[in-house]
Amino acid sequence: MTTETDDTQPRHFLDVDDLTETELLTVLDRATAYKRAVEAGDDHADLEDQTLGMLFQKASTRTRVSFETGMTQLGGHAIFLGEDDIQLGRGEPLKDTSRALSRYVDAVMARVFKHENVEVLAEYADVPVVNGLTDDAHPCQTLADLQTIREQEDGFDGVSATWIGDGNNVAQSFALGCALTDIDLTVATPEGYELDDEVLERARELGGDPTTTTDPIEAVSDADIIYTDVWISMGQEDERDVRMNDFEGFQVGADLLEYAPEASIMHCLPAHRGEEITDEAIESDQSIVFDQAENRLHAQKAVLSWLLE
Ligand code: CP
Repeated sequence: MTTETDDTQPRHFLDVDDLTETELLTVLDRATAYKRAVEAGDDHADLEDQTLGMLFQKASTRTRVSFETGMTQLGGHAIFLGEDDIQLGRGEPLKDTSRALSRYVDAVMARVFKHENVEVLAEYADVPVVNGLTDDAHPCQTLADLQTIREQEDGFDGVSATWIGDGNNVAQSFALGCALTDIDLTVATPEGYELDDEVLERARELGGDPTTTTDPIEAVSDADIIYTDVWISMGQEDERDVRMNDFEGFQVGADLLEYAPEASIMHCLPAHRGEEITDEAIESDQSIVFDQAENRLHAQKAVLSWLLE
């Protein structure tokens, strides 16, 4: 979390609370402006001749394509760096990779899973580092989520959101985003899958007060937004049987939506249709899932151009 600004160091975006409330709203305003520019076909080459290095340890559809397309639309360039395509895959220390990359590119986007690894990249980089997902946080996803909620609800005033399912990295960054925008958040999760206490504490420090419950029906009943994600993330495949059993009753489908017929449905994707969400729910008029996916593009362009200006 950023507590003071050092003008000699680049700003990084490792989690949502690296931004103040005012900075977050500035980035979201810029995301809306970029969306309008794309829709109108207006030129917005704000990162002309700048290069983004994109470091990916695992597969990605949305993060990879939205960052790469975003840099193209901004007049810049993105380089895909799979771990095995560079010396990192052969044991080069992260700090050396980070320092060398800083001599070539204007910013680094890293999807490196272990959160301490993105922190090392940031510590040794002379250029902004953006967290493209770790086991603890997915702040770029939260930017797109907040942009989507703001569009759907015409602002953040009085909005209530329910996270339903695993209190994972997406949920943790979303909780911080809700705290910064005064969204009233309820987390409905089976016992043992709650958000980390440390994240709850950070959310409270930002003025949020997330409620945790094990009752999915109660949690969705007053919600404007229902947000879910996979029950089994990459690396948790061995826990499939236990998790499928534990999350019974938490599926976003007809049984729950009966209690929330007006709520909008969100999912960060990829979805496991038939597990955490039904085919009917994701295809229904309540779903804003693909607007949410589109907003990854606009929100990331906004945070990149803001960090680099
Ligand atoms: N939501 C998300 O990060 O999608 P990808 O894993 O496809 O990038």
